[in-house]
Amino acid sequence: MNSKLDLRPLDASFGAIVNGVDLKTVGDHLFNEIYQLWLDHSLLIFPKQTMRGSDQVQFAKRFGELEFDIKSVSNINKDGSVRSDTKNDDVLKILQGNMSWHADSSYLPVLSKGAVFSAKVVPSSGGETSWADMRSAYDALDSDTKHNISNLAAYHSLYYSQSKLGHNHSTRSDYNGYGFFDQDPPLRPLVYSHPETQRKILTLGRHAYGVPGMKENESEAFLAELLEFACQPPRVYQHNWQVGDVAVWDNRSLLHQARPWDMTEPRIMYQSRIAGDEKSDFAPSPKQGAA
Ligand SMILES: [Fe+2]
Repeated sequence: MNSKLDLRPLDASFGAIVNGVDLKTVGDHLFNEIYQLWLDHSLLIFPKQTMRGSDQVQFAKRFGELEFDIKSVSNINKDGSVRSDTKNDDVLKILQGNMSWHADSSYLPVLSKGAVFSAKVVPSSGGETSWADMRSAYDALDSDTKHNISNLAAYHSLYYSQSKLGHNHSTRSDYNGYGFFDQDPPLRPLVYSHPETQRKILTLGRHAYGVPGMKENESEAFLAELLEFACQPPRVYQHNWQVGDVAVWDNRSLLHQARPWDMTEPRIMYQSRIAGDEKSDFAPSPKQGAA
């Protein structure tokens, strides 16, 4: 392939750093190459980009329809001050929740396809993002475990995951409520086939609970043990953000989490969320207890 891209695979089972491209001026031919690399590596990081919000949305749209075009992920109030009420501020509780492994929108009927994520303001230390490769995590399971989980599933809910941080969504909150799905939660198979690569993938993360056929404690312990196994080297990578970095990840293949930072310092990131496929990324919502 006659490429202008300078691609450096990460020291992990996935991911690559890509230099030599300005994401504002990518033609169709180059985009097709980027898309294929994205499917292969699941995570591409483009340093030193100069995209405005509208450029980011335009770039994200090339990966598919958007679940939402762009949102700030930040600990800053509208007046520019840093959010400080860690006990009561629901925006901070969402940020803290996202410091545990998760896939975006697994709590909605249609899992998100991926995200374009850019760094606008970064703290002096911490605040990195980590990703974990659920393709190679599945591959690394022993054959008995693969067999045992082949017909298992788990419910996914933001109510469940956020309740662990004492966050029970209320309409008076600064958090706009995105993700608090008010119908029966989706039930996702633990093993998912990627619709474009056909690779098998472990579906886990902080929103997952209540494996049908298991008692509550048994399910918690089982999911925690699988997650612990899955999110180990060489299946993890942690990125230390520089302003201007842009990451594009395949949310179907990877889990991710933010790393802690001193929250008296601002951190402002922008996410564009790519919508999943309404057929292959859809999970039904059977009544709990009836599955
Ligand atoms: Fe996330």
